[in-house]
Amino acid sequence: MIGFIGGSGIYEALPLGNVRKKEYATPYGEPSAPVTIGEFGDTGREVAFLPRHGPNHGKSPSDLPYRANMYALKLAGVTHVFASNAVGSLKEELPPGTLVIPDNIYDRTKHRELSFYGDGIVVHQPFAEPYSPELVDHLTESAREAVSDRGIDADVVKGGTYVCIEGPQFSTKAESEFYRSQGWDLVGMTTIPEAKLAREAEIAYATICGVTDYDVWKEDSQVTLEEVLENAERNQRAIEATVEEAVRTLPEDHTCEAHSALEGTVNTPTEAIPE
Ligand code: ADE
Repeated sequence: MIGFIGGSGIYEALPLGNVRKKEYATPYGEPSAPVTIGEFGDTGREVAFLPRHGPNHGKSPSDLPYRANMYALKLAGVTHVFASNAVGSLKEELPPGTLVIPDNIYDRTKHRELSFYGDGIVVHQPFAEPYSPELVDHLTESAREAVSDRGIDADVVKGGTYVCIEGPQFSTKAESEFYRSQGWDLVGMTTIPEAKLAREAEIAYATICGVTDYDVWKEDSQVTLEEVLENAERNQRAIEATVEEAVRTLPEDHTCEAHSALEGTVNTPTEAIPE
C-alpha cells in the first residue's frame, strides 16, 4: 500500500472511494491522527494518509509522534511513503513556489528519538542515500507530469540537500549563511526522523518539498509564519497533483532497495537476547 505523510486534508483533493479512518495502537503512543484509508479511483488500490501535525497543528516539530506515525503506517501495510514538507530555500535559483525532490539530508536535530531500536538490539543501517532513489525518480517524474498537465506554474527540481533543524525557531542569519556556504539547498524541520524511521521500517520514502521562503540569508527576507503559511497554501495544488500522479502511476509490483534495508544490519551480541 502507498502512504502519504504531509499536510492535512490532501485526501479530500484526491479521487478516493470507500474512505475510512483507522485508529492504531502503537508501542510509541498515539499517531498524530487516525490513518485515513481510501480506494484510489477505480484502481481498487488503497492509499493511507496521515497528517503529520494532526488535525489542529498543536505540536512543535520536536514533539511530533514520528515513531507512532511510521509504526501505524507499517501496521496499515504501507510499503511506500510519499511525504510533503514546507521548506525555506538556501539558493537564489530556488524561489518560493519551487517544488524540490531532495536526495540528501543534513541532520541538525537535537532532541528527537531517531530509532525504533535500542534496549539490546543494535541496528546499523546504511543511510548514505536517505531517500529512496527509486521514489526520488518517481516523484520527480510525477511532479513534472502533474504541473505540465494542469498548467501549474511551478519549477520542479530533482535533487538537493535538506538541512533539518530542530526548531521551533527559524534559523539565525549566521546559521543560514553557514548552511548556504556548505552548498545545501533547503531548510526545514520535519524530514528527520521520518526518513530514518522509514528506513528502519523497510518502507521506501521520498518527499516533495514546496519552497515557502528564502530563509534569512537573503537581504530583506525575514521568514514569518504568515509568509510560510501563505506560500504553503499556494504550493498545495501542485503537491496534491503530484501525489495523485505518483499514486496513479506507481507500478503494482514496484520494489525498492529500502524494502530489504534491515538485511545484515542487526549487530546484536547473543548474550543480549534472553533465552
Ligand atoms: N519551513 C518553511 N520555511 C522554513 C525555514 N525557513 N526554516 C525552517 N523551516 C521552514
